[in-house]
Amino acid sequence: MRNRDLLPRRTILRSAIAMGGLAVAAPVRAALPQFTPNQVMGPFYPVEKPLDQDADLTAISGKSGQAEGQVLHLMGRVLDSQGRPISGARIEIWQANTHGRYTHPADTNTTPLDPNFEGFGVQITDDEGRYRFKTIKPGAYPVGENWIRPPHIHFDVSGRTGRVLTQMYFENEPLNDLDRLLLSARNQQALIAKYQPPTGEMEPVSLAAVWNIMLPEV
Ligand SMILES: [Fe+2]
Repeated sequence: MRNRDLLPRRTILRSAIAMGGLAVAAPVRAALPQFTPNQVMGPFYPVEKPLDQDADLTAISGKSGQAEGQVLHLMGRVLDSQGRPISGARIEIWQANTHGRYTHPADTNTTPLDPNFEGFGVQITDDEGRYRFKTIKPGAYPVGENWIRPPHIHFDVSGRTGRVLTQMYFENEPLNDLDRLLLSARNQQALIAKYQPPTGEMEPVSLAAVWNIMLPEV
């Protein structure tokens, strides 16, 4: 028999109030939904979108080459504030290539362009809110003298009732801790994709990462 069982109930109640009165009196707050925060669009949204707008950025229709860099399978779900899947959401992504260079006339970085990298992709979520892209892990790139942007992918996600325009980052990147944009986010963890082991149908040396998106309701 536990000691607690030997104590009169009134004694237990007095002790509980004395030790945790404030906690008992405080209102119980439900966990707030972790909406995916917005981030700036940035200057490199494609001027010309590729003709073959699809979910595979590692090859361009009509070309035999493959994009340089490490293949990344990026997947996740688009959810509402209750955690329910949002089907039919449109997801656009755009990103730098493995050298940290955008296919965009405003990108003045001198690292190489990759003629086989698409740099832009589109996907519509399925009945379970799922999306999946095959791309290349983007390289970091400098912005001015004292700022190097960590690897990231720009996302524009439109669901039935909400939209988020943001940037997704990768876990375990030291540059994350120095990035002014990521640090400015009110919920940084909601912007960071998590790696998982590649599955059997993926290239053995590829990366797989999961990132879920919670859309606000307007
Ligand atoms: Fe960027």
